[in-house]
Amino acid sequence: MRMRYRRRKFLHQIAAVGASVLFIPNGITACTNKKKDYQTELEIGTTTEFDKITYKTNEFNNVPILTLKNEEGKYETFSLECTHQGCIVKFFEDSKEFRCPCHKGVYNTKGEVIKGPPPAPLRKYTTIVKNGKIIVLEQGV
Ligand code: FES
Repeated sequence: MRMRYRRRKFLHQIAAVGASVLFIPNGITACTNKKKDYQTELEIGTTTEFDKITYKTNEFNNVPILTLKNEEGKYETFSLECTHQGCIVKFFEDSKEFRCPCHKGVYNTKGEVIKGPPPAPLRKYTTIVKNGKIIVLEQGV
């Protein structure tokens, strides 16, 4: 009887080790893939391209962003997620405003709140020019 119990316990332990061996590689792969997908920088386009356009939208680490060339000729990139409740704001080129469709929040081209309930400016990304390429950087990595 005692021998039978020990044998059963041993088989349970073998099964537990086998199951963990099967699941650990999947867990490692999932973690690795998440990190792999995370970008620290994104090339938006070229300065030549911005001679013909005033802004360009993109997605950076699953966040919709907009890059524009401001009046001083500097490139700026903003998250399009409203700081009120996260709706996606839309850029209106004619009025040079970002407007939120959810609660009528309005931001200027510096990302500052000029109307409505948003409690903070739009998130701004560091944007650099390197060899004629416009690059957006993710900070805090
Ligand atoms: S979510 Fe944009 S104003 Fe409320």
